[in-house]
Amino acid sequence: MMGFYNDVVLPRLCHMAMRNRHFAPYRRRVLSGTQGEVLEIGIGSGLNLPFYGPHVRAIHGLEPSPQLVRIARRAAEHSAGRVTLIEGSAEAIPFDDKSLDTIVTTWTLCSIPHAGRALAEVRRVLKPGGQLLFVEHGLGPDATVAQWQHRLTPLWSQVSGGCHLDRPIQALIAQAGFDCTHLETGYMKGPKPMTYMYEGRAVPK
Ligand SMILES: C[S@@+](CC[C@H](N)C(=O)[O-])C[C@H]1O[C@@H](n2cnc3c(N)ncnc32)[C@H](O)[C@@H]1O
Repeated sequence: MMGFYNDVVLPRLCHMAMRNRHFAPYRRRVLSGTQGEVLEIGIGSGLNLPFYGPHVRAIHGLEPSPQLVRIARRAAEHSAGRVTLIEGSAEAIPFDDKSLDTIVTTWTLCSIPHAGRALAEVRRVLKPGGQLLFVEHGLGPDATVAQWQHRLTPLWSQVSGGCHLDRPIQALIAQAGFDCTHLETGYMKGPKPMTYMYEGRAVPK
């Protein structure tokens, strides 16, 4: 039963939920900074693809869910042949050290089982002058919200494909050896435990 939910229902729910029109301005801002050879981790159903600009040479999308890769493949048909989709995990990125210019992550670090390991992999494959562009939800600054985030996460992660509401995104990025050159935080419209956003750019230290 759980297998059917995770393999069939969840990828469709993810695709529908992530089409939320309130995410579009975040996607537009984050993707506007992309350039060169790009890897998007947890590309999901490919909802960022229309936002990539002309300075991008190639887009590699890494995604562990075969169902989401299938949906992303359809989205990639309109991307003028510059998209490659790879089934795999960000905890073991199948690229050489220092080989990529930009890494993109949008609402993905919450769901990766070992986010720290994934960020260490991101650090490894980025070129020294490369950049990590991100928008993620995570731990809020208010004690009451944070308390609810800690309380809800065990149940929430069971029904949402492993999503954690309480990850300290800024600290995780710093711990992986990055300096944030730009960071904006704040609540989006919606229930506070789910909507504290971290949006920005980080570069290898
Ligand atoms: C909330 S969805 C966001 C999808 C997409 N980034 C977007 O903005 O629409 C979270 C994504 O993280 C992916 N994910 C989960 N574990 C992962 C891992 N170990 N490596 C890479 N992606 C992962 C999920 O399969 C899913 O596509």
